[in-house]
Amino acid sequence: MENRQITLFFDKLNNLIRSKTLIKLVLSNQRDHTSDLKSIIISIVALKKGERLNFVFRYKTKDITKNHDIEEALALIKKSLETDFFNADVFSNEETFRLLITSHGKVKIRSNAPAIKAGAGFSHDRMKDRILATQNNIYLRELGILNSGFEVRHDMSDKFLQINKYIELLGPFIRDLDLPEGFHVTDMGSGKGYLTFALYDYLTNILGKKPVMTGVESKKELVNLSNDVASKAGFAGLKFINGTIRTVELDHIDILIALHACDTATDDAIYRGITSGASLIVCAPCCHKQIRKEFHVTNELKSVTKHGILEERQAEIITDGLRALIMEEYGYKTKVFEFISTDHTPKNVMIVGRKISEKPAGREKIMKNIQALKEFYGIKQHYLEKLFINSIG
Ligand SMILES: C[S@@+](CC[C@H](N)C(=O)[O-])C[C@H]1O[C@@H](n2cnc3c(N)ncnc32)[C@H](O)[C@@H]1O
Repeated sequence: MENRQITLFFDKLNNLIRSKTLIKLVLSNQRDHTSDLKSIIISIVALKKGERLNFVFRYKTKDITKNHDIEEALALIKKSLETDFFNADVFSNEETFRLLITSHGKVKIRSNAPAIKAGAGFSHDRMKDRILATQNNIYLRELGILNSGFEVRHDMSDKFLQINKYIELLGPFIRDLDLPEGFHVTDMGSGKGYLTFALYDYLTNILGKKPVMTGVESKKELVNLSNDVASKAGFAGLKFINGTIRTVELDHIDILIALHACDTATDDAIYRGITSGASLIVCAPCCHKQIRKEFHVTNELKSVTKHGILEERQAEIITDGLRALIMEEYGYKTKVFEFISTDHTPKNVMIVGRKISEKPAGREKIMKNIQALKEFYGIKQHYLEKLFINSIG
C-alpha cells in the first residue's frame, strides 16, 4: 500500500512515537464485518528492554495484549490497515488526526479531528476504544461503572470517560519517569477510589510495573469499601488507609496524586509530595477558599474584584498559580492545564510538577515573583508557604 498520504501518516506517527508524545492509536472500522477482531488500541509502554508499543487486540469476546518493538509495530499497523481496518485515529499531546481509507482505496488524512472529550454524551463506539479494558474488569464492576455483563452502564458513561481521560493525560508523565523497583504511589483523598484503581490498573496491567500504591482517605467507610474492592480485584499492591493528608504516616512517596482534595487539603498534599522528594506531583484542586479570604486588593484590580464572581475566579487563578510557582521554587517543572471538559465539572484544572532539581537555578527570581504577586493581590501568605514556614519554625 504505497501512497503519499500513507507515507505522510507513517512519518507523523513515527515522530510521535519517537518523541513519546503519542497517547494512543486506534485502528477501527473493520474491512470485514464478520471478523471477530473489532479494533486495536496501541500505546507506548516503557519496559526494562526499552520502549515498546502495547497492542490491545479487541475481539468480540476477549482482549489480547501484546508488546512489539517500534519497527515491528509500524509494520503490523501498516498490514492491519491493508487487511483489517479502514481507519486509524491518532491521539497525541499535540494533535489528533485520522487516516481514512475508502473501500475504493482512496486515502485521506483529517487533522485536528475533534479530540475525545469527556462528558460529551454516550455512544457505544466512544466507550469501546478506551485505554482501560472493561472485559472481566472487577473493580469497574464493583464501583458500579460496569454492569454484571461488564458493559459500561449508561448513567456511568461520563465517569468512565473521565477516568480514561485522566489515564490518557497522566500516562506520558509517568512513562517519562525513571522509577525504582517497587516505587510508591500515594493518592491523597482517594474518595471512592475510581481514579486510584484506574491508575493501579494502568501501571500494572498496561505498563507492566509493580507499584506499591496507597490511597489515603479520612472517611473510614470509603477506606473499607475500597479495600474490599481491591481484594476482590486481586490488586495485591494496592491498599487504602484511614488518615488525614497532613498527618498520615507514609514511608516514602515517588508519585503523589491529589484529585479534588478540598481547599487547603491540596496544599497539604503538595507539601507532603515536595518534602518526600516525589518525582511527580499531580493535583486537581477543588474549592479555593483560603486565598479569597486573604485578598486585600487596593490597586487598579479593585475595579474588577469588586464583582464577586470575578474576585472568585481571580482567587482560583492566583491560588493555583502560586501553587505552581512554589513547586517551581522547590525544583519542580510545572504544567497547568484543563483535564476534563467543563461540561463535567468546573473544577477541571490540573497542576503537574515533575522534579528536575534539588536547587533550581532561578530560585531567587521565582521567590521574588511570588512576593510581587502576593503584594499585588494584598495576600499575606499562601497556605502552602505557611506549611514550609511552620516546619522550619
Ligand atoms: C471530592 S472527593 C475526591 C475523590 C477522588 N480523589 C476523586 O477525584 O474522585 C475528596 C475526598 O478527599 C477526602 N479528603 C478531603 N480532605 C482530606 C484530608 N485532609 N485527608 C484525607 N482525606 C481527605 C474526602 O473525604 C473525599 O472523600
